[in-house]
Amino acid sequence: MDTETLLAQAGSGWDYRTGAVSMPLYQSAVYKHPALGKSTGYDYTRTSNPTRFVLEELFAKLEQASGAYAFSSGLAALDAVFRALFQPPDNKSLAKRERLIISEDLYGGTFRLLENFFPHIETDYADTSDKKVMEEKGAKPFSAIFAEIPTNPLLKVCDIPYLSALAHKNSAKLIIDNTFLTSVNLCPIELGADISVYSATKYLGGHNDLLAGFAAAKDAVVAEKLKYIQNAAGAVLNPFESWLLLRSLKSLSVRMERQTENSRKIAEYLTGHTAVAKVYYPGLKDAPGYSLLAAQSKSAGAIVSFELKRAEALPKVLEKVKVFSFAESLGGTESLITFPKLQTHADMGEELLEKLGINDRFLRLSVGLEASDDLLSDLEQALR
Ligand SMILES: Cc1ncc(COP(=O)(O)O)c(C=O)c1O
Repeated sequence: MDTETLLAQAGSGWDYRTGAVSMPLYQSAVYKHPALGKSTGYDYTRTSNPTRFVLEELFAKLEQASGAYAFSSGLAALDAVFRALFQPPDNKSLAKRERLIISEDLYGGTFRLLENFFPHIETDYADTSDKKVMEEKGAKPFSAIFAEIPTNPLLKVCDIPYLSALAHKNSAKLIIDNTFLTSVNLCPIELGADISVYSATKYLGGHNDLLAGFAAAKDAVVAEKLKYIQNAAGAVLNPFESWLLLRSLKSLSVRMERQTENSRKIAEYLTGHTAVAKVYYPGLKDAPGYSLLAAQSKSAGAIVSFELKRAEALPKVLEKVKVFSFAESLGGTESLITFPKLQTHADMGEELLEKLGINDRFLRLSVGLEASDDLLSDLEQALR
C-alpha cells in the first residue's frame, strides 16, 4: 500500500469489536491478568500499550523495518540507537573505543548526547556529503556512520546508497536521521540504511504540541535490542502522545506538500534579496545538493536557512517578524525562525560553529502552513 494511504488510515480498523475508525486512546498503565500465567498481551504500559503498538506497527511498515519503536523524544530515540549499536567495553579503560563517523553539521543535542554520555564512542565529525572526505574517513576501521539528511542547519545532502556501501564494505552500520524529510519523502532503509531515527516532535507530530521520537531497524536482531532498551531504560512514548501522533500522521503528506511549496517560494524570494548573503535550500536548482536529493527524495522539505549580509540586522529581524515566531523547533503548522548559534546548536562551541558558517548572521526558517503571501510580506518588512 502507498505511504499516503497508510498515513491517511493511521490506526483505523484495529479495534474490530467496535469498528472505531479512529484508534482509541488506551490510557491505562496496568492490565488485569485473566489467570495465573495468562496475559491479554498487555501487562504494563512501559512494555506495551495498544495505542503505542498500533503507532509502532504503522511506523515499521512506513520505514520498511523489522521493528520501529516510539520514544519520549527524538533524543531518547537517539540514545537508544547509540546504546543498541555500541556496547560499553568490559574493562573501564575505554581502550576499545569504537569509531562513529558523524555529520559535522548536525542537531546540537545529538552532539551534546554523544560527547557527554558515550565515552566509549570515538566521534569522528566529517562532511558526510563529501565523498572524497568519506573515502578517507572510511580507510580506518569504524563501526557506524551517522548522517542527517539534509543536515541541520546547513541542509547538506548525503548519498545514502553510497554511505550504505561504504559502511557495509567495512561491516559497519549506517544510521540516518530523517527528521527533516520524513517517510513521505524518503525511506532510509529502502535506500540502504540499517537504522532510521526521527524526532517525531517535528513534522510527524506537526503541531508544535508534543515531544516524541522513533527508531526503526532493518535487522530483526537490532530491532529487538531497541525494543529491549525502550522497556529497560523506560523512555517510552506515553499513550496520549501516541494517540496524538497517530492523529497527526493522518495529515502528514498534505502538510509536507504545502509546507514544501511555501518553502520553495521563500527560498526563491530570499535568493537575490539585498539584505541576504546566501540561501541554503536543496530544492533550488543551482543548490549544491539539488540533483542528489532529487534522486533520493520526493521533495526538498520545508526548512530554509539563510545568511544575512550584516550581523547587526539579525536581532532586528527576530524582533520585527510577526507571522514567523522566534522559537527553536521546526516542522509544525506554524512558521518559526531560529537563531541556531544561540539556540539549537549552542553546545557545539563557537569555534566549530564559526568554521561551519553557523554564525551571527545565520538564521533557519521552519516554514509552516500559512498563506505564502503572508509569510513573504512578513519577511519583507522584517528584512527592510
Ligand atoms: C534532526 C534532529 N534530530 C533529533 C532531534 C532531537 O529531537 P527531540 O527534540 O524530539 O528530542 C532534533 C531536535 O531538534 C533534530 O532537529
